[in-house]
Amino acid sequence: MTQLRHATITGTGSYLPEQVVTNSDLENMVDTTDEWIRQRTGITERRIAADDVATSDLCVHAARWAIKNANIDPLDIEMILVATVTPDTFFPSTACYVQKGIGAKNAAAMDLSAACAGFLYGLDLADGMIKSGRYNTILVIGGEVFNKIIDWNDRSTCVLFGDGAGAAIVQATDEPKGILASYIGSDGDYADIDLLGIPAGGSRMPVTSEVIAEKRDKLQMNGREVFKLGVRLMPEAAQRVLREANVSIDEIDLLIPHQANLRIIEAVGDRLGMPREKVYVNVDRYGNTSAATIIIALDEAIREGHAKPGDLLLFVTFGAGLTWGSTLLRL
Ligand code: UT7
Repeated sequence: MTQLRHATITGTGSYLPEQVVTNSDLENMVDTTDEWIRQRTGITERRIAADDVATSDLCVHAARWAIKNANIDPLDIEMILVATVTPDTFFPSTACYVQKGIGAKNAAAMDLSAACAGFLYGLDLADGMIKSGRYNTILVIGGEVFNKIIDWNDRSTCVLFGDGAGAAIVQATDEPKGILASYIGSDGDYADIDLLGIPAGGSRMPVTSEVIAEKRDKLQMNGREVFKLGVRLMPEAAQRVLREANVSIDEIDLLIPHQANLRIIEAVGDRLGMPREKVYVNVDRYGNTSAATIIIALDEAIREGHAKPGDLLLFVTFGAGLTWGSTLLRL
């Protein structure tokens, strides 16, 4: 019988724009306070891309680091998957701009839209594509420039999000490591724009001057409902890969949950029975970078020595759609 090969992450990279926007900067823009933002979200600052910077620009920086750290040639890459809900343009895909930017001439390229769950959707696809035997090297990126889809006068959303990108080189290995279990799911019953989404700009509601005046081209969210759904769905998704791989939570070295709100992160960790020191947090410094949060956090955790070769890592996420996912990975 042929032994199924595994897909593993051989290099990561991330890129955050230089400009820092602190809570006190926001105090000067909307009716909010540093204290409210810290208490309700755990966020103290976030990064914001310059006006002339698009998502692919951040992705290219992150991808270059991942390529360097994986010690591969860009020409080795066979597929580029960019998870984003803030593409440079509807089409061509952001992935095609990245393909050009890194000179990955042998790669197919496409975007995938699964909101905050995008990176784990990308990892799941890469896992399947590699296990099928058709691909050996895939670049999976989560990248967002949220600042351009935010209503900067809406205090209930503008304090939450940030810009950034993270990239992973996913490659085939015969060693018993890499992605041990992966799960993605969705529920379109929650595909409600007012729950979380952008009403205008697509074929349902093209952008007109009225739409712009009503800010229907900007992100809408019912924070309280999204909060409750996240706290319920993420532990369920995480349990699923633990069960599938027959792994107990005590065996996990590091939990990297989607970084949307410190209270959600802590509730998810607590429900899973994970000690707080084994739950990675960087939402305080970057806010919610949507599809990019988990891969930025993984890249940081590796560089800081919080995630080491051989460690067992658990990723879990949820986002608009609703979408969700979890990954169990032996680094
Ligand atoms: O990646 C997934 C995307 N999104 C999320 O994961 C977000 C999930 N939700 C959340 O993180 C939280 O629900 C929020 C941080 C968005 C809000 O926290 P909350 O504890 O659920 O607050 P709330 O929405 O219930 O609002 C409480 C109060 C309201 O005032 P009243 O009605 O009680 O007088 C809001 O108007 O806080 C007010 N408020 C603010 N006050 C100061 C809302 N935003 C702000 C603000 N500064 N920025």
